[in-house]
Amino acid sequence: MHDGRTNYIGGEWRAAMAGATFESVNPARTEEVLGRYARSQGEDVEAAVAAAVATFPAWRRTPAPARGAIIERMGRLLEARKEELARQMVAEMGKVLVEARGDVQEAIDMAHYIAAFGRLPNGSLVPSERPDIFCAAQRVPVGVVGVITPWNFPIAIPSWKILPALLAGNTVVFKPAEDTPGLGVAFVELLIEAGLPPGVVNLVTGYGPEAGAALVESPGVAVLSFTGSTEVGRQIAGRCGQLMKRISCELGGKNAIVVLDDANLELALKGALWSAFGTAGQRCTAASRLIVQRGIKQKFRDALVDRTRALKIGAGADPSVEIGPVVNRAQLRRIHGYVEIGKAEGAKVLTGGRILDEPEYAPGCFYAPTVLDEVEMPMRVAQEEIFGPVTALIEVDSLDEAIAAANGTQYGLSLSLYTRDVNRAFRAMQELEAGIVYINLPTSGAEIQLPFGGVKQTGNGHREAGWTAMDYCTEWKSIYVNYAETEELVRAQIDTQPG
Ligand code: UN1
Repeated sequence: MHDGRTNYIGGEWRAAMAGATFESVNPARTEEVLGRYARSQGEDVEAAVAAAVATFPAWRRTPAPARGAIIERMGRLLEARKEELARQMVAEMGKVLVEARGDVQEAIDMAHYIAAFGRLPNGSLVPSERPDIFCAAQRVPVGVVGVITPWNFPIAIPSWKILPALLAGNTVVFKPAEDTPGLGVAFVELLIEAGLPPGVVNLVTGYGPEAGAALVESPGVAVLSFTGSTEVGRQIAGRCGQLMKRISCELGGKNAIVVLDDANLELALKGALWSAFGTAGQRCTAASRLIVQRGIKQKFRDALVDRTRALKIGAGADPSVEIGPVVNRAQLRRIHGYVEIGKAEGAKVLTGGRILDEPEYAPGCFYAPTVLDEVEMPMRVAQEEIFGPVTALIEVDSLDEAIAAANGTQYGLSLSLYTRDVNRAFRAMQELEAGIVYINLPTSGAEIQLPFGGVKQTGNGHREAGWTAMDYCTEWKSIYVNYAETEELVRAQIDTQPG
């Protein structure tokens, strides 16, 4: 069990300077304390930033293939420890074992993919309008990257942010979510084992308003990457605007699956169940709206309710369990609060709608998978992110109405449409306002070799993963070299133009 010395600064494990700690508990059995972690304050963050600043010049000069080799070793270590990390994840944040393995696999994929960029082109050679001038543009690191990650993908999301930052030559200060500090520690331990030099990655555990805020404020941090709520993202991004600091935000979603009359019903049902209730609905890509065309609605609804009732709920370590606990009691109350709001707005609870407090569930944070019916777009349950196992059925008449409903929120991460009609599919691909569009696939299940991120209030224009993974933490440097053996100054735009 970790004993509170969980900050990793300049190559040393340390306690918070003020000595404070906080506990991480198992959401399936909240009396089970998994570890005690450093509750970091500004002074701890400053020490971590100072270490990252000091290490940056040497890391930036380390050849990119050598940086890539360390990340490749990280990929192999993640592979070797996949099962161990997955089990730790089940205990620390509650997702079921198969999903926890998938979370680690996403980081393995990311490591192998990003490592290869160490030997891929890192810029462009372009012609000059002047004779004997060499022009090139090169991608360069920005400096110290502050990484603030959520608890729902405690290994995958740190890998999306940290591995590209390192490959590009940045140094990092990492603040994992307070619900999953143990996995943050495990991730950093593997980077150390992979051969990352001291000070290149620094870890501070603790709370957002303390350690996270200090990272935002620190003058040594050149760029931030944050995944979390739109509310916190707006605060942080506002502050970064004042500080002229770069920030990449990956925020809320209100994703929807559209099921048209001509859809493959069985395929759509499986997709809806997976995206609505997988990870207990705690994915940014979760489908918390199911927009169904009138002709197929009743069949779809009845089958959905039957299958939702049959889902097995329990601790994620049990292989027969399909839905684990939600992450903590505050989330449990928040989710239930939304169901109450929905009822007050006129939605009907077809199944679920309650905290599971029977003795077998009572020690944990379990919520019954919930289907709301008769939901209309203006209702809060159709507009706001719930981040729990609750989905809302919305009936529509036509493709146009379905697209308008899908687009009718402030968010735009992931939208999906089920149809067998190629014309409708292509219409939807063009018209759906989201960073990720799926046809005949659910809203979850993004692969790491494509850009990941959203439009509208889901983000601020950045993308993670894919060939875009390094964009957030690099800048372009344009270089001109004159190799003419003359004494003549040739001015661009002036001496090269006759008139
Ligand atoms: C998230 O929920 O923050 O597409 C990320 C998916 C996963 C990633 C989810 N590959 O659902």
